[in-house]
Amino acid sequence: MATDPILKRVTGRTKVMFILGDPVAHIIGTAILNEDFFRHGVDATVSPLHVAPADLGTVLGAIRAMRNVAGFGVTIPHKIEVIRHLDGTTPRATGIGAVNFVRRNPDGTLLGDNVDGIGFVAGLSRNEVEVAGRRVLQIGAGGAGRAIAFALAEAGASHIAFANRTAGKARALAEAVTAAYPGCGTSLSAPDTAGFDLVVNTTSVGMQEGDALPADLSRLGASAVVADVIMAPETTPLLAEAARRGCHIIRGKEMLLDQPRLVREFLSL
Ligand SMILES: NC(=O)c1ccc[n+]([C@@H]2O[C@H](COP(=O)([O-])OP(=O)(O)OC[C@H]3O[C@@H](n4cnc5c(N)ncnc54)[C@H](OP(=O)(O)O)[C@@H]3O)[C@@H](O)[C@H]2O)c1
Repeated sequence: MATDPILKRVTGRTKVMFILGDPVAHIIGTAILNEDFFRHGVDATVSPLHVAPADLGTVLGAIRAMRNVAGFGVTIPHKIEVIRHLDGTTPRATGIGAVNFVRRNPDGTLLGDNVDGIGFVAGLSRNEVEVAGRRVLQIGAGGAGRAIAFALAEAGASHIAFANRTAGKARALAEAVTAAYPGCGTSLSAPDTAGFDLVVNTTSVGMQEGDALPADLSRLGASAVVADVIMAPETTPLLAEAARRGCHIIRGKEMLLDQPRLVREFLSL
């Protein structure tokens, strides 16, 4: 009988990782990471762990005692709540207010980071889209939006204008980004793309058939880049319309492609 090469290589020397969520049936990040580790000759393996919110502290306490655990990912609903069980977070995760990967240090201490936003910027970079010096319109200020805004500022965006249905969330994000990156100007905006170099949709608007466009593209220049975080459909109506106008478009899946490398780096695998 054929054996999966990924399972065949797991031994007592293998580093172990988990992805904690509730529910877990939708998780594919484990398979993506296992495949990446295999391709890069990294002796590590990842499993989903179904952990209810009430059990998160108990599970993290146990992970502290598990000496062959390199770290773990967290997904819905643990990304914010996990922080109070950790020993610390990177400045980036502290600003974002959410964590998606945790490193277990050799002494059992746990450090949280968030690579969602830097994954997005890495996707831009792979597509030869430069962020430094760009004027950005970001639509949305939820979890993905917070991570992306901090990463855009870190990558040197000159200005980020935020448009969000709930204006208070956009205002809070703009203030947090300016406090962390004084060199990056921020403002609140209508979802009007005129005059921007880069337009980023971080909302879920465009996932459902019949959704309106999250931004008005009628005055968008053809030299602008338009990116969307939505993964299904692969080409959202926003991206289709931007492509029709001659703009360079970046699809949601681009945000995921560099994350295994970023996780390997963070966990020193
Ligand atoms: N490509 C990737 O790797 C990746 C990673 C993470 C997330 N995502 C995608 O990113 C999207 C957002 O996820 P999230 O975790 O950030 O969710 P979230 O924290 O719930 O934020 C949702 C955002 O969308 C806005 N929104 C939702 N429905 C809206 C509507 N009907 N009209 C206008 N604005 C609306 C919200 O505005 P309010 O603030 O007004 O509620 C908020 O800004 C999802 O499509 C998710 O699948 C993709």
